[in-house]
Amino acid sequence: MKIKTLLIALSVSLPLAALAAGNPTEGAKKAETCKACHGEGGAKPIQPDYPVLAGQHSDYLVAALNQYKSGKRKNASMNGFAAALKPQDIEDLAAYFASQPSDLKMKY
Ligand code: HEC
Repeated sequence: MKIKTLLIALSVSLPLAALAAGNPTEGAKKAETCKACHGEGGAKPIQPDYPVLAGQHSDYLVAALNQYKSGKRKNASMNGFAAALKPQDIEDLAAYFASQPSDLKMKY
């Protein structure tokens, strides 16, 4: 019984530490600098080897940005930009770019 009560107490208090879900409207405001390379809405990169972000899965975008931030994924430009992002910025940017139309084809 006591263990059950403890588990319930834990499950109630843990979500407080969780991030708020990404907010695409906030993400749009934070995406101004990203446009310079990834294009309007992340849909039209300025170079063919720069990735399209529009329409990508938001969890993929979050993972990629966290990897640039931690240095696990290396790219001189992106390591610098991601370093400046807070966890909530990453969630908001990912929600925004995921919501933008593009020609990316998603199988899943
Ligand atoms: C100076 C140009 C430049 C700017 C500005 C820029 N990026 Fe990037 N971004 C790149 C390049 C180049 C890559 C590909 C790097 C690689 O090969 O890992 C990339 C990759 C990414 C990826 C990984 C995409 C994938 O398909 O794996 C994400 C996510 C991303 N950028 C988000 C952002 C966000 C969010 C911003 C604004 C805060 C931003 N970028 C600003 C050049 C830029």
